[in-house]
Amino acid sequence: MKHTERVITGLTIFLFAVAAGPSLATPPDVAREEAELAINLKPDVKIGKDLYRICAVCHTPEGWGTANGYYPQIAGQLPSVVIKQLADIRARNRDNPTMYPFSMPSSLGGAQEMADVAAYVAQLPMTPHNAVGPGRDLDYGAELYKKECAECHGKDGEGDSQEHIPLIHGQHYDYLVRQFRWIQMGKRRNADSKMVKQIRRFSPRDIHVVMDYVSRLRPPEARVAETGWRNPDFPRFDRHSMPPLMRHHPNPQMPPERPTR
Ligand code: HEC
Ligand code: HEC
Repeated sequence: MKHTERVITGLTIFLFAVAAGPSLATPPDVAREEAELAINLKPDVKIGKDLYRICAVCHTPEGWGTANGYYPQIAGQLPSVVIKQLADIRARNRDNPTMYPFSMPSSLGGAQEMADVAAYVAQLPMTPHNAVGPGRDLDYGAELYKKECAECHGKDGEGDSQEHIPLIHGQHYDYLVRQFRWIQMGKRRNADSKMVKQIRRFSPRDIHVVMDYVSRLRPPEARVAETGWRNPDFPRFDRHSMPPLMRHHPNPQMPPERPTR
């Protein structure tokens, strides 16, 4: 082959590789592969605790998030769900601009670290005082939940580890409402397609009452912390270094204060 021919052949192969590369592995593929790998690893909870230090800045040392729902409670979440969400956020299969940098390998590491931190998060006891909705039409909320949600999220909102279906009981009301809306409008790209279909016709009122009901579903007593519990794994955690939204939320987009149980 003449030199110019070699250059042209090389260039063609290079251009093909560039064009084909990204389409071979889409964000959902990348996320699924990494999540599957992590779910099957043996986690080390002690390493998970060290990794959790960075998460605590937003999700609080207890993993309880904030009552305004900006930061979700993650304590007690099923490990397979935490792993799937981390993998989705990292692969940009779920938008989370606030957390994205902290999901990257430079902060979190790889599949093993995902498994470790997920195991740590899962064993944290849940808040006894999550924010609940206004408490209207709870009977209708219960009826909707039994008919439309229980088959996947479980009778008591306990989720399903095998299917990576989130545990939703005891979650802050405004977080639940936000996620549900985003799932319904397609903004949460990693949503479950069957769920999207099932909730297509939910009205704003349906959404609020069913989420009010879910926010009041109690996790099992053994999984809930005592009032005032502070995570002893982080005795010197500087709570004043938390982002301002944690302490008060002057942001006009923030929902109003909600009652907690
Ligand atoms: C800079 C703040 C910040 C940091 C640090 C952070 N997160 Fe988050 N995280 C968020 C926000 C905000 C959301 C909710 C985004 C939304 O509304 O979709 C979230 C959502 C999540 C979710 C999804 C919860 C659900 O119910 O779907 C998981 C799981 C999670 N974070 C785990 C972690 C872990 C583990 C770490 C540490 C490695 C971490 N986060 C670090 C801000 C943060
Ligand atoms: C066909 C099964 C299915 C049905 C029915 C279903 N869901 Fe889901 N739901 C899922 C799956 C799977 C996810 C997680 C998607 C992902 O991977 O991020 C999810 C996610 C959610 C989330 C986000 C949780 C979080 O922590 O971020 C909420 C809230 C939710 N569902 C509430 C409901 C409610 C309320 C109903 C009934 C009106 C319902 N779902 C019906 C399967 C289902």
